[in-house]
Amino acid sequence: PRILVVNGPNLNTLGQREPEIYGHETLADVETRCRRRADQLGLDIDFMQSNHEGEIVDAIQQARGTAAGILINPAAYSHTSVAIHDALAFAELPTFEVHISQVHRREQFRHHSYVSHIADAVLAGAGTLGYELGLEWLAERVSDTN
Ligand code: DQA
Repeated sequence: PRILVVNGPNLNTLGQREPEIYGHETLADVETRCRRRADQLGLDIDFMQSNHEGEIVDAIQQARGTAAGILINPAAYSHTSVAIHDALAFAELPTFEVHISQVHRREQFRHHSYVSHIADAVLAGAGTLGYELGLEWLAERVSDTN
């Protein structure tokens, strides 16, 4: 089964960006980690990052009928994007929303996520380990349905 892993805006700067909040791992490190975990779980992954909302919408639309699930860190678009919410509704796939930081302990504007209205599972604050936990959840969810 193939899982689409989506990373939203500014996650390309992971490692340099506010390391006291997001840690020192780069997005390439996160990808390596995801690929290793996916291998162990028998999943294939498509790992993408974009700073452009429309590109994320396109990727999610294309996942419908072709991917088995979605792991998404929508980053700042969590808090603003009805378009990503609507694309996820269209995709009709098991969806795990992950945030590296504990958004509920941060600024008020990070407390609401449009994506959480459609996600089947949400994890915030577990650091980049959250990506691996998300893949684990998706592997189990996908094996239940197959
Ligand atoms: C984030 C949290 C968001 O509020 C923020 O805009 C991000 C990253 C996280 O992974 O903790 O870019 O999604």
